[in-house]
Amino acid sequence: MTSKPPESAFGRDLIACLESRPRTISPKYFYDAAGSALFERICALPEYYVTRTECAIFERYIGQMAALIGPDAQIVEFGAGSLLKARLLLEALERPRHFVPVDISGAQLLASAAVLRGCIPGLEVTPVIADFTSPESCVLPTPMFGRRCGFFPGSTIGNFTPDQASEFLSGAARLLRGGGLLIGVDLVKDPQWLHAAYNDAEGVTAAFNRNLLVRANRELGSDFSVDRFHHYAFYDPVRQRIEMHLLSAGRQSVSLGERKFEFLDGESLHTENSYKYTLDGFRTLASRSGFEPRACWCDERGLFSVHWLVAPA
Ligand code: AVJ
Repeated sequence: MTSKPPESAFGRDLIACLESRPRTISPKYFYDAAGSALFERICALPEYYVTRTECAIFERYIGQMAALIGPDAQIVEFGAGSLLKARLLLEALERPRHFVPVDISGAQLLASAAVLRGCIPGLEVTPVIADFTSPESCVLPTPMFGRRCGFFPGSTIGNFTPDQASEFLSGAARLLRGGGLLIGVDLVKDPQWLHAAYNDAEGVTAAFNRNLLVRANRELGSDFSVDRFHHYAFYDPVRQRIEMHLLSAGRQSVSLGERKFEFLDGESLHTENSYKYTLDGFRTLASRSGFEPRACWCDERGLFSVHWLVAPA
């Protein structure tokens, strides 16, 4: 019996990935229910300084951030998953009027909207299911009161190449004109920190990486031997990025639909880039992309940064 080739975007992208060299797939496919749960566990790991450091910056400076955004704002969050951070911001704002979380995956989006709805008096919550990686394609409710401001925490922007990041920021600057963007950006640092953060002792990041194959086997009927792919993450100081790969342990073949794909020993499937910026490097990228970089806040060790970018009207 032969099965039809997978029809989903994941199926199409995975086949395209397996056909090409180098084999690369978008990290957005990490986040099924199991992947999102594994990511939550990563955020709590001792080695993963990212979430903890960003939250501390928010807690310390949220008053300044809220003052810059101003009263009666509409907050557009790109990617819904950081309820905690959104809530911290909304609670600090003066009369926040409208919260608009934008995400491609409906389930988590609706769940987070439900939690926030009703916990801040006078706040309207309108989840929008859209691909925020092209902000232009997002149809948002018109702000009825104050300004529209974007919120993009977590250094998710690090998953884009600098060119893609610039394209995203240009789209966001148009979408947010007259308002601004509050964005979390991970910083260039001693590679030992970075290596530890993406190679944790408990192996949670490895499980997160391999979950891509678990998901493919379940959703697409492929037959990846998940244990025969090794998590491999390293920092490239020239490109200023972490690369995550799955490396084939030995020669093996994988079937997907009617297709069969060979992996040589040590051959890679590139699953994620996570770019790191210097403060100046990010501010330059933002101003080349239509924003005016204004305030920025860091932790004392200079691990992470949060930027306030103004979008000219
Ligand atoms: C959610 C993209 C910010 O790059 O640090 C964590 C994802 N990958 N550990 C990151 C991730 C491996 C994370 N971002």
